[in-house]
Amino acid sequence: MNKDNREYNLYSQSSRANVYETYAQMREKSPILAVDGLPSSMWFVTGFEEAKHILAHHKQFVKDYRKTLPEAEAQQLNLETELFKLLNYNLLGVDAPDHTRLRTIVSKAFTHRRVLALQRRIQQITDELIDAFPEDGEIDLIDRFTFQLPIVVICELLGVPVEDRDQLRMWSNTFVEGSYSYAQEMMEFFRYIAQLVAERRDKPQDDLISALVQAEENDERLNGRELYSMIALLIVAGYQTTINLITNGMLALLQHPDQMRRLQESPDLTATTIEEFLAL
Ligand code: HEM
Repeated sequence: MNKDNREYNLYSQSSRANVYETYAQMREKSPILAVDGLPSSMWFVTGFEEAKHILAHHKQFVKDYRKTLPEAEAQQLNLETELFKLLNYNLLGVDAPDHTRLRTIVSKAFTHRRVLALQRRIQQITDELIDAFPEDGEIDLIDRFTFQLPIVVICELLGVPVEDRDQLRMWSNTFVEGSYSYAQEMMEFFRYIAQLVAERRDKPQDDLISALVQAEENDERLNGRELYSMIALLIVAGYQTTINLITNGMLALLQHPDQMRRLQESPDLTATTIEEFLAL
């Protein structure tokens, strides 16, 4: 473990300019390390074996880093602001019993019917996007496909207007990567979510935001802040990860044409191929 060696500041200009180099150095030098600029009780795990071990033994770890933060540091950081709570009171930032409660609510909203309908719709959107590719010439795979597919799916699932996708992309990037006007942009994001919630409260639809709003109204086990935080998490987690999976997977196949051919000849290898992509 590399706790004392805090030379990586992911938010510095030079790290941002050479982000892949920084990640490679982090991975190679220390698969478990603390990063400058983040709370000292927060760890980055970049090694495959180490990450697998932690996921398999998740009960021995906490998600809420405030629990293991030294008192003096906790006082220095602004942990009680409304923005901090909006950003962290979700499945990625809380432990049981809150985690169990939030997980139960969101699982109920992901009904079998909704997921089945989604599967058909994902195929349809995929076909439409591919059909719109030009017959010849180059395309930007991210702009034309890997961004479009997951963002349209998550917007339709949640009930967020698809026309807002470019704005959502900007907010999500800020959420994940930070920015100089982070607080202001994130508060705008949450105001946007509050507006969607207000609209669904007035006029419920057959979408996930309406289902979550009903969970909040019915059994009072999801408070307003948790509701906003959950929606923000679903928007961000629901498409950033998928963009990276499809884009990195496609790049790997293009760099390994023999593997691309194997997959084209035996499509039943798709599931194992995706497992490999996830480990990239
Ligand atoms: C290739 C796609 C994806 C990858 C690689 C991925 C990866 C992950 C990982 C590693 C975690 C665990 C994080 C942690 O516990 O600290 C996680 C959690 C989560 N992901 Fe994803 N994810 C993907 C797609 C999605 C999608 C499409 C959604 C939403 C529709 C989503 C929503 C969530 C949520 C809500 C959690 C928190 C779950 C919990 O703590 O109970 N993810 N994801």
